[in-house]
Amino acid sequence: MLPHSIISSVVFDSPGTPFPSAYSQLDYYFYDQSCPRLQMIVKYGVWAAISNETRIAASLLRLHFHDCFVNGCDGSILLDDTNDFKGEKNALPNRNSARGFEVIESIKADVERACPSTVSCADILALAAREAVVLSGGPFWSVPLGRRDGLTASQKAANENLPGPFEPLENITAKFISKGLDIKDVVVLSGAHTIGFAQCFTFKNRLFNFKGSGKPDPRLDSSSLTNLQSMCPNKDASNTNLAPLDSPSPYTFDNSYYTSLVSNSGLLESDQALMGDSTAAALVNSYTYMAYLFNSDFAASMVKMGNVGVLTGKNGQIRKKYQQQQPPPMEVTQQAYTAHTGHGSVGPVIAVLAVITILGVIAGMIGRICSGRRIMGHGQYDFEGWVERKCSSCLDGRVDPPLARPADIPVAEPVKEEEPQETKEEEQEQNKHKSHASTSDS
Ligand code: HEM
Repeated sequence: MLPHSIISSVVFDSPGTPFPSAYSQLDYYFYDQSCPRLQMIVKYGVWAAISNETRIAASLLRLHFHDCFVNGCDGSILLDDTNDFKGEKNALPNRNSARGFEVIESIKADVERACPSTVSCADILALAAREAVVLSGGPFWSVPLGRRDGLTASQKAANENLPGPFEPLENITAKFISKGLDIKDVVVLSGAHTIGFAQCFTFKNRLFNFKGSGKPDPRLDSSSLTNLQSMCPNKDASNTNLAPLDSPSPYTFDNSYYTSLVSNSGLLESDQALMGDSTAAALVNSYTYMAYLFNSDFAASMVKMGNVGVLTGKNGQIRKKYQQQQPPPMEVTQQAYTAHTGHGSVGPVIAVLAVITILGVIAGMIGRICSGRRIMGHGQYDFEGWVERKCSSCLDGRVDPPLARPADIPVAEPVKEEEPQETKEEEQEQNKHKSHASTSDS
């Protein structure tokens, strides 16, 4: 086993390598401008949590794994139940087992204070898992970022997709393959069991009644068996007792987990099953004497796992609270209008047509008034007459009669205008007719 200082100095911190374009959806520099203090905030949050309880490092690492294997790494494991779905927190592999939610909640709150509505919970989970490994003495790797948070969670998918400790290796491998991972990832990522604890009910069958035989698992090393039987007595009451997954060093991220498998001291049946497959067993053996290889492979597999089913770009959302969906914004956008009517440009066209119609009607009314015709007012209200009277001065140059003069003001004798010659002759003609008519009447 390599000394801790050497293991810690194995750094996989070269963006672009060794995990290049295959993960191009995500970006190592995603928050460099928008949230430059992000990694420091997460690091501090994980450090503070581990200072309080050493085991929490293991719990945070597992939380990221359980997030990624259900609907992808989208923070869905953090969501509470809603009217629309049953969340993953209460799925069988998580209930009374998944831990570290309050650590993510607290880190998320700190991140929101520094960079509101910017960083996804899914990215915080990925970074927290990395910090947990580093602070436990494991390798550092750059985490590609830019995941967005899912809008839903699925208890059913969590029950179906997460591997169980009693499942045969073929089933577990098939679940990894369905996520784009492979048998090597199974072996490497199972190495996460170098830290943390398991409840007795997850392996007790191996201690007392293996596969209904009434006897312990014959593959289990005898001194480990005795040890575990004392931790997990054959009573229901012991079901939730804890045993270390890697008893030599449960809080240190090292390669002793693999050494234990080779000596038949693996805790979970699914762990020990790796030795029953030639490909997996060969890898296990190599990791027992090449800790640096385990570290670099673990870093690579974590980046691979962290890329499973990620939401990027405009998919998903950035939650403000770690356990709740962000309600959709209520703004009325052109897009919303288009979606509603199905005719994106109809609004402006209707407005223009309305203005043209109103102007046309006004022009028509003025035209009719000017030409002396009626436009309406067939009833008792003579609107046109009123308009004609009021607007006569502007329409045909007529001027209203002057106001009556008060009686005490003397009126000057009007100057009599010479009547035109034609009018005088007409009058004389009419007078002739009148006198002639009166003589004949009489
Ligand atoms: C390969 C299939 C896997 C199976 C069957 C499996 C199963 C389990 C089980 C049964 C426990 C104990 C849970 C409890 O008692 O509450 C556990 C704990 C743990 N698992 Fe796995 N696991 C697998 C893979 C992984 C992977 C891929 C990771 C991370 C990359 C991981 C990380 C952990 C950690 C760190 C713990 C300890 C958690 C704690 O102490 O809170 N496991 N696992």
